Parts: sequence; structure tokens; C-alpha cells
Amino acid sequence: MSKKPTLKIVGTGSFLPDTVVTNKDLEKIMDTTDEWITQRVGIKERRVIGESGLSTSDMATFAGKAAIEDAGLTAEDIDCIIVATITPDMNFPSTAIFVQQNLGAKNAAVFDVSAACTGWIYGMTIAEGLILSGKFKNILVIGAEFLTSLSDINDRSTYVLFGDASGAVVVQPADGDRGMLGSYIKSNGDLADLLWSYGGGTRVNKKVSDQEKMFDENGIDKRSTIRMEGNKVYKYAVRAMIESAEKAMEDAQITEDDIDMLIPHQANSRIIDAIAKRVNMPDDKVVRNLQYMGNTSSASIPVALDQVRKEGRLKDGDVLLVAAFGGGFTWGGLVIKM
Ligand code: UT7
Repeated sequence: MSKKPTLKIVGTGSFLPDTVVTNKDLEKIMDTTDEWITQRVGIKERRVIGESGLSTSDMATFAGKAAIEDAGLTAEDIDCIIVATITPDMNFPSTAIFVQQNLGAKNAAVFDVSAACTGWIYGMTIAEGLILSGKFKNILVIGAEFLTSLSDINDRSTYVLFGDASGAVVVQPADGDRGMLGSYIKSNGDLADLLWSYGGGTRVNKKVSDQEKMFDENGIDKRSTIRMEGNKVYKYAVRAMIESAEKAMEDAQITEDDIDMLIPHQANSRIIDAIAKRVNMPDDKVVRNLQYMGNTSSASIPVALDQVRKEGRLKDGDVLLVAAFGGGFTWGGLVIKM
């Protein structure tokens, strides 16, 4: 017998930029191969903002608008907007402020959440608390990332991984047996040095005393690009995502047998394989879109959720398990009866 649901998802939306960059395109500009990327990561192509001039808030707005329409609401019905992102438009104000402005959601309180690839799960968990407190009734929770803005062309181990995208859901208080049944979020600041970007933050003053260290051999400002110790991250990622899935199911008081679909964060197909195996999910229940999207951090799960709903793969009443991990480290999982 599962727990009583808290919030329910009443609309979903997503946005992918038009420009496609294939592994073959990357072979022409750096020392990499389609074979290496396909075998080690599982990505064939990624969608990127490129020269389109869009910002993170633009992508978030497109996904948010689609989710509001899908819910049969108007922007003025939205009373809270949460944008999960590590690639904000500006240091401040928040990216959510520009989404509010673009949408004309004038009755909303808005803010950003910074929890890297787990950002959307953190946003949903915050939304759950706000719904349970009775404060808000229609919350827009968005994951939006312009991750290629952090890419360093001189670092092939990260450059090939990332894409740009946004995904959104509208949530309301649950009133029947459908909705969020379980959630789990966790962090470990001891692992902050494994995956990071200074990105104009103030810590740069503390950490890098030697100005020269801020620039690589090609004069690229390392503060603005992403740095990752991929191998170490990989090991923690598998453990953290398994823990997230298990704890979310425990919180929901359900078992693997009750799960109809698993949407894991899309960072590496080998990580997805490891989690699916551990929680006994056959391949047809596991959602993968990284092959044509790359790693889109906080957007990966809400985009996949919108895709499987619109394709009719995920139906009303199905039980969905999601799990993610990211820089920080942060990790977490949700169980949602759709
Ligand atoms: O979503 C946020 C969290 N991020 C993640 O979860 C990422 C987790 N980590 C991973 O997915 C993997 O560690 C990577 C995909 C990032 C890297 O795969 P790996 O199997 O761990 O490769 P590696 O870093 O151990 O490198 C193995 C070899 C190295 O060559 P040598 O030293 O063995 O000669 C690298 O230089 O692969 C080389 N390599 C590449 N070769 C061709 C690294 N990147 C590339 C590349 N193309 N793009």
C-alpha cells in the first residue's frame, strides 16, 4: 500500500534547440571519434543553442508555456515558478524572473534552484513542500540548461558530453490517488572539487591566487568553463543514483514491482545500464534520450517525461521512478503516479 500522494503533475512541456551537432561533426574539430563517444558514453548527437541567440530563460519560457497550455491553464493562473539551472541568464536577478516576464505570469512568486543535474528533482521537492503548506496551487517547475555555454573546446573529455534543452511541469495539490508518492534528496559538499565551474562566482578570489592559473594554454578563461574528473564522478554517480531510486521507493512505500517506468538522469548509457540492472528494470521500462540530446543536466528528466507522455508511452495511472545526481554532489529521486 503506497503513501497518499502530495502533488500531481497536470501538464508537461519541453524545448530542444534546432541545431544538431553529431559525433562526426566533433571529429572534424577535435581529437575524438564517433566510436569512442558512442561506446564510452552512448551519445550520437546533441541539440545546441549555437548561433540562435537564445538564452536559458528563453528555453525555459518555451517549455513552461507548453506545460501551462498542456495543463489547460493560463500564465496568470501560475502562482509560483521554480527554475532549476546551473547556467542562469545572469548572476541576478534569477532566470525565473525573466521567465515570469516572458510568460506574463504576473501572479507568481519566482526563484531559481541550483542543484546541478538534480536541480529539477530538488525543485519538485520544494514544490511539494509549498503545496503541502497550502501557499500555492499551480506551480511551474522547470529544468533549463544552456550547458554548451560552459563547454571548453580544449577539453575533449567534457566537450562531447553536453547539450542544451529545457523541460517543465505544472503541479497542483493531489486530490485522488495520483501524484507524487515518494521523494528523496541528498548532498555531499566534500565532492565539490570533482565537478564545477567558477562561472563568475566569488570563490575564484579565494581559490586561485595566481592569475595565470585562470587561463589554459589557449588563453581560455577556465573560470567560465566546466571542469570534471569524469572517472571519479562516474563511480559516485552510480552509487548515488541507486541510493536515490531505492530511498524514493522506500519513501513511497512501494517496491520495484510497482514501477512502470524509470527515467534516470541522462549522463552516460553505462550509468543508466547499472541503475536499471540494480533496480530490476527491463530495457523497455527504461527511458533513454541521451543518444540524440547529450547530457542536459537539470533538463534531462523533465524533457524525457514530456516526450514519453506525448508519445503515449507513459499513461495516466502509471508509476514513474526518476533518479539523478550532479555537481555538488547532489542526488535524489522521486516516485510519481501519473
Ligand atoms: O551529469 C553530471 C555528472 N556527470 C557524469 O555523470 C559523467 C560521469 N563520467 C562519465 O560518464 C565518464 O567518466 C566520461 C564519459 C566522462 C569519460 O569516460 P571514461 O571511460 O571514464 O574515460 P576516461 O576519462 O577514463 O578516459 C579514458 C581515455 C583517456 O585516454 P588515455 O589516457 O587512456 O589514453 C582519455 O584521454 O579516453 C580518452 N578520452 C577520449 N578519447 C576520445 C577522453 N575523452 C575522449 C574523447 N574522445 N572525447
